[in-house]
Order: sequence, then structure tokens, then C-alpha cells
Amino acid sequence: MDINKLVRKNVVAMKPYSSARDEFDGEEGLFLDANENPYSNGVNRYPDPYQRKLKAVIATQKQVSIENILLGNGSDEVLDLLFRAFCEPKKDNVVVTAPSYGMYKVLANLNDVEVNEVFYESDFSLDADKIIAATDKNTKLIILCSPNNPTGNSIGLKVIEKVLKNTNCLVVVDEAYIDFSNKSSCIKSLGSYNQLIVIQTLSKYFGMAGIRLGMCFASKEMITILNRIKPPYNVNVLTQTKAIELLQNIDLNYKNEVISERENLSKELSKLNYVVKVYPSDANFLLVKTTDANWVYNELVKQQIIIRNRTNEPLCKDCVRISIGTKQENEILIKAMLSLRM
Ligand SMILES: Cc1ncc(COP(=O)(O)O)c(C=O)c1O
Repeated sequence: MDINKLVRKNVVAMKPYSSARDEFDGEEGLFLDANENPYSNGVNRYPDPYQRKLKAVIATQKQVSIENILLGNGSDEVLDLLFRAFCEPKKDNVVVTAPSYGMYKVLANLNDVEVNEVFYESDFSLDADKIIAATDKNTKLIILCSPNNPTGNSIGLKVIEKVLKNTNCLVVVDEAYIDFSNKSSCIKSLGSYNQLIVIQTLSKYFGMAGIRLGMCFASKEMITILNRIKPPYNVNVLTQTKAIELLQNIDLNYKNEVISERENLSKELSKLNYVVKVYPSDANFLLVKTTDANWVYNELVKQQIIIRNRTNEPLCKDCVRISIGTKQENEILIKAMLSLRM
């Protein structure tokens, strides 16, 4: 697919901002080009606009080439860049699934782009044909979330590939929770589909929500387009440094701990008389159907335990979403939930 044909005309026509560090990327020199404060304090210089050192670490860990990576201020920024690069306000549309991560619709609304929603089936499976049927000539992005927030289940590769093969738009797979799952990442399919965009984040499995780092893996052409429009210094020095440090020291046992806590919590919650169902999860949260989500939510707030009430989301009537905490936090939650009497 010629993805350059999908880019908004104003983005093709514009001259990207060229920062001082774009024009000279050596490390040594007398830098009098960016009106910075010359007195060193660790952060007085602008960051590397292309985050080369951090991308090298990510490229090795994810087994992709540096030219297939774009980094953003959280994956929310990466998603926003996709809307801005490809979706013509008041004309184009995007296809999203429901229920799913709320920011897709917020970003579409913010960018004045129409949203076509495709609902999950009652068993939380997705029908690829319904997604394909929801597209038209103005559809620029299809956004799939796998594992999905808030349902917790993954979308099978077969569904994703069917959508890729039968549509003429970009297919974004948001894999924010992929590292908690035993399913493979779509990164492996990037070589086969240049319209595929995979988004991941350091906010979940990697435990770095506070530094805001989102990762976009895509074809070289796609990364070139996004680099044209991204704010020049979108990933700050502190984030780049901390991410390199933590990525090189990641504790791999943490994944097993989260998964065993998730399975234990699921077992314990299933015993409660006001819990109708605990859905299987490939992520670090559980979606729990109760007899009265508002009541469960409010009762837990009284005990200063905050969970997410999802009762107003499609197909999620009386559901709450609970993040997996530490062993100790989960024990407190279970005790509190055991104490609730309807
Ligand atoms: C599916 C999904 N995608 C993206 C994000 C946002 O990630 P980030 O912290 O990288 O902006 C979230 C946050 O909860 C999420 O659930």
C-alpha cells in the first residue's frame, strides 16, 4: 500500500521545523546554536530530538531496526500524531472497537474526526467482517487494542490479518498490555504489512508510567511521516536517561508475579456472592461483572480503595475494572471485598 497517499495534504506540503540539533548531531562541540543556558546542571541542554541512544536499547530488546521506531510523550502522543498526520478534520473517519480505551474517541473528537464504532460480541470476541464493513473511502485509521482495555482479552492474529488484508487504511494495534500476555506481538508482522502500526508503552509492564514514554513500531515510510510532524523535543532528557537505565535493569520475575497475583485474585473474587463473573485477562487488570457496580465502587471508596467503575461502557453493565496490585495490596482488596454485604 502507498501510505504516502493517505497523508493529509497540508502535512505533505508543510516544511517541518528544523531544530538546532537536527542540523548538527555530533556530541562534541561548542554549542551556541539553541539559545540554551550554557552552565551545566544536567538538563541545561535540549534532548536528542531522535532519542538515538534510547532507541538503540529498545531496538535490541524488541528486535526491530531503529528506523522502524518513533518515540512519544506516552502512547497518547503517538496516537495523536497519527490523527494529525492522516485524518482530515470534518472529512475523514476512524474505526474503533467498543468497549475499548477511551482516548481513541477523545483524540478523534479533539481532531474533529468522525468515529465509527464496532461493538465486541457478547463473549468479547471481535468479528473482522464487521470491522471491514465499518470502513469507507474516508476511513484512515482502524484502531484495535490487544489485549483490550477494559475487557482484558486479546484479538487473535487471524482477525487482525483479515482486517489488514481487506481494507485500504492504516491498522493501528495498541499493545499497551502485550507483555503480560503469552500471545505474540504484531511487531513480527511489520515486515509483511506497511500499513500496520504497533504501539506499545513503558507505562505498564515496564513500570515507568511517570516518565511518559510511548513507542511506535512501523514501516520506515510511516516513521518518516510521523517524524515530520512531531514536536522537535517531545521526549525530555530525564525520560530518555531514566528509560535507558531502567530498561537495562528490568526485573523479568515481575511478570510471573503479576500473573500469579492476577490468577489468585480472580479465584478469590469469583467466590464472592455479588460477583457474577471474572473475565479471563491477558493484562494486568481484571474485568469483574457484579450484581451492582455502583454499590461495589462506592463501598470500596469508603475504605479508600479506588477501582474503576466501567458500568457505563458498552457491554460492561455492572462491571468494574481492577488493577493487579502488589501481593499485600491484593490481600487488602480481597479482605475489603469480603467485608461487603449487599
Ligand atoms: C490500551 C491503552 N493504550 C494506551 C494507554 C496510554 O499509555 P501511555 O501511558 O503510554 O500514554 C493506556 C493507558 O491506560 C491504555 O490502557
